[in-house]
Formats: sequence, structure tokens, C-alpha cells
Amino acid sequence: MPDTDQPIAGYNGLTHVEPTLPTHFYLDEDHYEQELRQIWYRNWLYVCRASDLVGPRAFRVFEIGSQQILILRDEENELRAFHNTCRHRGSILAQESQGRFRSSMIICPYHAWGYDLCGNLKKTPTRHPQPDFHKEDYSLYGVGIRDWNGFIFIHLDEANAQPLEDSFNDANVLNHWDLSELQIGHSHHKQLDCNWKVFWENFNECLHCPNIHPELSRIVPLYKQYFMEVNDDPKWEEHQKSGDLLYKAGLSQGNETWSTTGEACTEYFPNLTQEEIKNGHTYCETLPSAFIVGHVDYVRVLRVLPIGPERTDIFTQWLFRKETLEDASFSANAVTEFGEKVIEQDGFVAELNQKGLHSIRHKQGTLMAEEYSVHDFHQWVKRQLD
Ligand code: FES
Ligand SMILES: [Fe+2]
Repeated sequence: MPDTDQPIAGYNGLTHVEPTLPTHFYLDEDHYEQELRQIWYRNWLYVCRASDLVGPRAFRVFEIGSQQILILRDEENELRAFHNTCRHRGSILAQESQGRFRSSMIICPYHAWGYDLCGNLKKTPTRHPQPDFHKEDYSLYGVGIRDWNGFIFIHLDEANAQPLEDSFNDANVLNHWDLSELQIGHSHHKQLDCNWKVFWENFNECLHCPNIHPELSRIVPLYKQYFMEVNDDPKWEEHQKSGDLLYKAGLSQGNETWSTTGEACTEYFPNLTQEEIKNGHTYCETLPSAFIVGHVDYVRVLRVLPIGPERTDIFTQWLFRKETLEDASFSANAVTEFGEKVIEQDGFVAELNQKGLHSIRHKQGTLMAEEYSVHDFHQWVKRQLD
């Protein structure tokens, strides 16, 4: 909190106490269902990289809450997405989580209705079709799909979707990273015993950083001060003017990137500005499903999907330039080990947080000044539920 009564202009912190969301938002099955319907089934969601589906007939199935979504490439290599549900009596269509259809037909495993890869019903097994049965009335239930710079996003209610770009904090902030050209060098999968919002709350504050991320806080001076941005500091003007290294944006002296050594693992992306290099990390967020971070040498995308009121799926991919991955001497270990450690640390506290929420006395928590971004997230959740 600022020393003076009046916060200085540009200060980010909360200037009075704000409550957290009520505890039942994190535990209650009915509330969880409401969030699925009003948040997860109504926003653009990151699922995988375009390169995760190579060539015609490749498919993947993703579970979004209780919904199974089938994503595939049709014969023209176009991406398509459908509910993985047959229009006859509702059986699942694809039973595997990924693969390649053997023919250009999706055959239902129950009574063998057959759909083309554009979702049109082509055949049924009946020998006695009724005169009022029209195949064109029974196409697969469509799902919106977009390839944004090599990242595949889906939308379960495309007719009412906002433009995908509007779902980012800033859709242009990673323009200098050639996102669409990047390839997957490493991935990491983890499920956490916490509500999906607990994960995002932790992401939105650095009050926990010095304590939980000692290694990361050595690389990012601001994190050691419990801040994410220079303006989180009530004395930001004074500290920025004096050039105090403790309050400097970006990485500490001698560190180029988030890695165990602090050194870049490969050459810098060629189009970065001096400022982007100095910052060491540039964040692009898209609620509720992902954030993408550009570092000087790699890009990391972390996907969040809800599995239940108290279970969350976390999937992280590390992306590099093709030349980097083709270099036989390249090793991503220093950056992936570092990133996985940070995920472990965050996962650990997220699970502690979820457990503690079960107290019958804890109806609601309280936010500190530095948690302004958690407050913003809570406001976003409430607007979605309105
Ligand atoms: S449920 Fe798919 S063909 Fe019957
Ligand atoms: Fe963290």
C-alpha cells in the first residue's frame, strides 16, 4: 500500500481490501456446471498446435468439461471440429484420443451411421428408410475452430462467439516471435487437485514468488519484491527514476532467459526489439484456457482445462524454431527443467490452497494490494456468470 493517502498515478495495487470469490465457487458441483456452461462452453479455448494434426484424416479428441470434441483434418487438409457424438442415438464416434481415420468416413461404432469428414451424414444401415427421414438434417454438431498462428482454438457456441483476437489481453504482443513457424520441442502434462480458478489466481500474483519460486525470483528482480510489473510498486516513480536495480523490469544482470543457467539455449529470435530482449518474458493471455510466453530463445504455451470442481488439467508445450530443433547439438534441458520446476512449485501451492478451502469456517478470503490482477480475474469470472 502507498504511504500517502493518495495512491500515485499509475500505481496498479489495490488501495482497499477486496474479497475473493466465495468458497463454494471452488467446491460446489452445481456451480462448476454453471461455469462450464457460461465460461468454458462460451469462450475460445486453446486445444493444441496445428502441427499436432498432420495430414488428411488425422484426428484428436479433447474433453472440455463433460464435452468430447472431435477435431480433424478433412480430405482437403482443412481443420474441422464437431461434438464427438452421433446424431442417431448419441453414441461416441471416435473412441481413441488421437489417430487417423482409415477412410474418408467417420463410422459410428454403434449402428454404423457414416459421416464424411465435413460432418455430413452419408449412410445409415436401415433397409427401410422412412419417407420423412432426410440425411441432411443429421449432420454432426459443429464446433467453431480457428488456427491462430499455429495454435488451434475451438468454440462450442460459435454462432455467439466474440472474435478470437478479442479473447487475448493483447493479440499482437507476440508479433515478433514468428509463432506460426515454431515447432514443439518438449511437452509436459500434469493434473492438479484444484479448481481451475485456483490455478489462474496463482498465475495472477507474485506475492508467492519469493517463497515458492526462489530460483525464478533470482532471475526476475521484481518477483523478489512480490511484484509482477514495475507499477505494482507504490513508489514506482521514485524507484524507476533512481534506477534502483531491485525494482528494475526484466531479468537480473547476466540472465537472458528463464532457464536453470539463465543463459539462452539457442540464438535469439531475430525480430525482437531491445525492450523485448531486456524484458526476458512477454506474456499473452487468453482466458480461460491458456497463456503463451515469449522468451528470447523459446516460446512456452500452457493450457488449462477443467476436469471437475477440484481437478484441473495442465498441459505445457515448449516451442522452438525449426533450425534450433534440427541442430544436433541443441539441448532444451536447461529451459524445460526450469519450466517444469516452476509448474511443480505452482501446482504444489495450488493443491494446498484447494485443500484449505474445505474449512467450514472459510466462506471467503481477502486480497492484498499486490493481488489486483487476481481481483481483475474475479471480476472477469463474475461478468461471465452474470
Ligand atoms: S448411435 Fe450412432 S449409429 Fe446409432
Ligand atoms: Fe507461481
